[in-house]
Amino acid sequence: MSISELRGQVTSCTKCELCKTRTNAVPGKGNPNAKIVFIGEAPGRTEDVRGEPFVGSAGKKLSDALAKNGILRDSVYITNVVKCRPPNNRVPNESERESCRPYLDAELDAIKPEIICVLGNTASNSVLGQREITKNRGKIIEKDGKKYFLTFHPAAIIYNQELAAIFESDIATLARLVK
Ligand code: URA
Ligand code: SF4
Repeated sequence: MSISELRGQVTSCTKCELCKTRTNAVPGKGNPNAKIVFIGEAPGRTEDVRGEPFVGSAGKKLSDALAKNGILRDSVYITNVVKCRPPNNRVPNESERESCRPYLDAELDAIKPEIICVLGNTASNSVLGQREITKNRGKIIEKDGKKYFLTFHPAAIIYNQELAAIFESDIATLARLVK
């Protein structure tokens, strides 16, 4: 399925309970031929209102780190484990993640990126199984014929200078890996 067909399906999806509380579904966004796909957790308040992923304060951190390494946001593709905002930004549950999973798989199948950057615990648990971020971040992880790269969620670095420095150096590593 093409990315534009997927957008249409996500926008009108009612496969899980999150459709009842969302303002807008938030399909992935970016270059359908991207070398890098980023996977976050779930839309937050700003994303829910705008219908676009990573456009709030966490998104600003991600954009800044990309820009510092010469990566245009439009050149990559950014998506989430679930496409609708969970009430009060709670972590999406197992059944919601499972309902939404086919969209993520279809995005990755359509784009076939060189590398998939997994942002934070929820995405790591969903996509890679339990992987400890502090132990596994910053390196390539191969799984089922796909290449992954794990780092912190940009929301986790907002008030933590130490994590922010590591996040930025991970994004620099990622940028070198796809050059
Ligand atoms: N956090 C996420 O995980 N995804 C978004 O789209 C925004 C914030
Ligand atoms: Fe559909 Fe995913 Fe939204 Fe649930 S979170 S309603 S499965 S798009």
